[in-house]
Amino acid sequence: MKENYNVVTLKGTPLILLGEMVSEGKIAPDFTATDNTGKEVRLSDFKGKHIIITSFPSINTPVCATQARRFNIKASSLGDDIVVLGISRDSQEDLHKFCAAEGIKSVVTLSDRKYGDFGERYGFLVKDKDILARGTVIVDKDGEIIYAEYVPEITDEPLYEKALEALENHLLHNKFTLKPLPYAKNALAPYISAETIDFHYGKHLQTYINNLNNLLDGSPLKGKPLKEIILHSEGAMFNNAAQVFNHEFYFETLSPTPKTMPQGALMEAIEERWDNFENFKKEFSAAAISLFGSGWTWLAKDKEGVLHIIKSSNAETPLTAGYTPLMTIDVWEHAYYIDYRNRRAEYIDRIWNLLDWKTVEERYAGL
Ligand SMILES: [Fe+2]
Repeated sequence: MKENYNVVTLKGTPLILLGEMVSEGKIAPDFTATDNTGKEVRLSDFKGKHIIITSFPSINTPVCATQARRFNIKASSLGDDIVVLGISRDSQEDLHKFCAAEGIKSVVTLSDRKYGDFGERYGFLVKDKDILARGTVIVDKDGEIIYAEYVPEITDEPLYEKALEALENHLLHNKFTLKPLPYAKNALAPYISAETIDFHYGKHLQTYINNLNNLLDGSPLKGKPLKEIILHSEGAMFNNAAQVFNHEFYFETLSPTPKTMPQGALMEAIEERWDNFENFKKEFSAAAISLFGSGWTWLAKDKEGVLHIIKSSNAETPLTAGYTPLMTIDVWEHAYYIDYRNRRAEYIDRIWNLLDWKTVEERYAGL
């Protein structure tokens, strides 16, 4: 089973998560668990509803109890087309007792103890601990994941407001929200510091999102998917929409435990185009270093599946020319100035340690 490092800690001690972690934009995998009565329940039983899945280590700790209560209160006010599933590895008897004592009625409490299906398919299973990590996944009524949070420190509470804001923005306001990173903000060190993440992700990307939401107010593009907005806008709207896409794509390409080399069909395509991976790396790095001013360097495939290294200035993105982006390095100064000052070449040299080729392979395969 896949092991994920540097995502969560327990009182500061790093834990290993097992299984496939999920992210926004993907179709939610189905899973089977048992309810308080021991009955099998599947995610697909709730098809057509918006589903908040809140995962916690054990109902018998104060933070977990708070988590169940908070979502219970909110769930009862959200309406009939929203269901909240609380899931842990507690036994169904323990969950039943807790819910009866606490009056938890609006949360469907599920146990992952019998099947371990949720833990594995959503990457919440903690290795050697027999518990689930803490976090929240929101699935919209079409089965798409619109929010995924793995709480970095397992004793902390989830970002209730952020999760509910994401859902409300999605349901009511058609607004974009900052997606939680699939790793802790200090997990990319020493190559990218927590301070850079604070500014680059927490301030720059947040600003692009805020600007985009403001510009969309009163626009016929409001409520459209991000890629559609990019393809049908210009000026400030295009710049902010494309920067949201480019940054989300960049942060999702990075991993504290990356697959460091591509394999299979992607590797064959790289070898066909550049003879070998080292040549490709050299050419890609040279393109990134030589890009004038602010912009991005991309690995992308065209409609025939041929790979290309593409340089784009400012907010430009290969999407507009019909390419499928596969990998990118942000070469705006704000991506590296805190850690590397003006030494762009050093930043580019070191960021190869964070580029996750598994993610790139999935994009190449169209997953
Ligand atoms: Fe950036």
